[in-house]
Amino acid sequence: MTRPLRFSIRSYGCQMNVYDAQRMGEALAAAGHRPVDDDAPADVRVFNTCHIREKAAEKVYSDIGRIVAEARARGEPRPLIVVAGCTAQAEGEELARRAPAVDVIVGPQAYHRLPELVGRARTSPGVVLDLDMPAEPKFRHLPPRAPRAAPSSFLTVQEGCDKFCTFCVVPYTRGAEASRPVEDVLAEARALLAAGARELVLLGQNVNAWARPGTDFAGLLAAVAALPGLERLRYTTSHPRDVTPSLIHAHAAVPQLMPFLHLPVQSGSDRILTAMNRRHTAADYRETVARLRAARPDLALSSDFIVGFPGESEEDFEATLALVEEVGFAQAYSFRYSPRPGTPAADRPDQVPEAVKAERLGRLQALLSAQQYAFNRACLGRVTEVLVERPGRHRGQWTGRSPWGQAVVVEADLSPGALVEVELAQAGPHSLVGRPTGRVR
Ligand code: SAH
Ligand code: SF4
Ligand code: F3S
Repeated sequence: MTRPLRFSIRSYGCQMNVYDAQRMGEALAAAGHRPVDDDAPADVRVFNTCHIREKAAEKVYSDIGRIVAEARARGEPRPLIVVAGCTAQAEGEELARRAPAVDVIVGPQAYHRLPELVGRARTSPGVVLDLDMPAEPKFRHLPPRAPRAAPSSFLTVQEGCDKFCTFCVVPYTRGAEASRPVEDVLAEARALLAAGARELVLLGQNVNAWARPGTDFAGLLAAVAALPGLERLRYTTSHPRDVTPSLIHAHAAVPQLMPFLHLPVQSGSDRILTAMNRRHTAADYRETVARLRAARPDLALSSDFIVGFPGESEEDFEATLALVEEVGFAQAYSFRYSPRPGTPAADRPDQVPEAVKAERLGRLQALLSAQQYAFNRACLGRVTEVLVERPGRHRGQWTGRSPWGQAVVVEADLSPGALVEVELAQAGPHSLVGRPTGRVR
């Protein structure tokens, strides 16, 4: 048995990284090490990185610099530094060259070996590297889930991406699409429910591309929904190309499935969608949304948008605004296009100037914010349940989520995991206030 180490993990990027960070923590704890808060002294610091946009990828370098400087200022030895996640995979040894303090570099498909890699780094000089994408996926080598789970817990069911959108690094950082077997997903779901989860969020880069012989994603949803104790089910991120008739039907037929869907469209211009290799048109997206809403009339939609993709004209951008006006989103994320090394779009000569991207992003975000606020106001008066997740900002307040994914603040004597019935009584741009009816389960 090696000496136990205190470790902390800082995660950047998407929900899949949040899930991976939990699993890395469980792996280190199972090896005898002890988790500490991010700002507490630690022997090992793990940075679980994101490579999606330049700003996200650069963040790890300044964070490592700060950790090293702080240790030096206190006259302490610096902690062992682990870089995990998508930037680790994409930059590999280059990362160690730019940040010589790094001791371990481990990719998103190899982190089940983290305890062993940390052990090796303690005794060997130089950086320990593991960017393997093993044929046998990491999941079966990870320890069981922790005995306590959040009321709303993530569960990765699908990894990787084969779609190769021309702007995106994910197919390179996460590898090929792979679906976990139904039995494995159900076993992990049962463990999370036994540990206190009441809502599960099934995760994948293209979660609705999940498929196993004889079962499609709708089949998986039905199987998970049938588990005792599961009150709510969500999934993210879905790709418009993989919204099948059976998945649309699931939104009508599976009561646990929440009426909220994150379905990124990226752009409303067919010319740009083609150049992005999204392999669907704006009309396809509108039609998919119409079908989903026919199946589940109160479905709230969310999307991701990229502005300033190479070659995007004012007219293309206006097509995006028009699509947003027409569809109506309850929530959305929007980004300036960021050229990523190794992706086809980065090499195009017709890059859009930063000032133009900024101006377009401002206009799009103003519209999306107005839609979100309008959606929140339109929900006033609805009597619904909130799944309580954590204490609110003020004493006696709790926050949780409505079925439509909104943050709702409730003042009552509650605890995490409670499903409290409320009347939505006040609406702000980003959250609502719920007045409890007295029913809690
Ligand atoms: N698999 C998901 C998206 C994962 S990445 C899908 O296909 O929808 C999350 C979001 O980051 C994307 O939806 C996109 O809007 C944004 N994004 C990805 N690459 C980007 C880039 N190079 N510049 C700006 N935004 C980007
Ligand atoms: Fe990236 Fe496109 Fe794959 Fe989504 S579908 S992860 S945007 S390549
Ligand atoms: Fe970022 Fe990797 Fe997720 S690049 S968005 S952490 S899949």
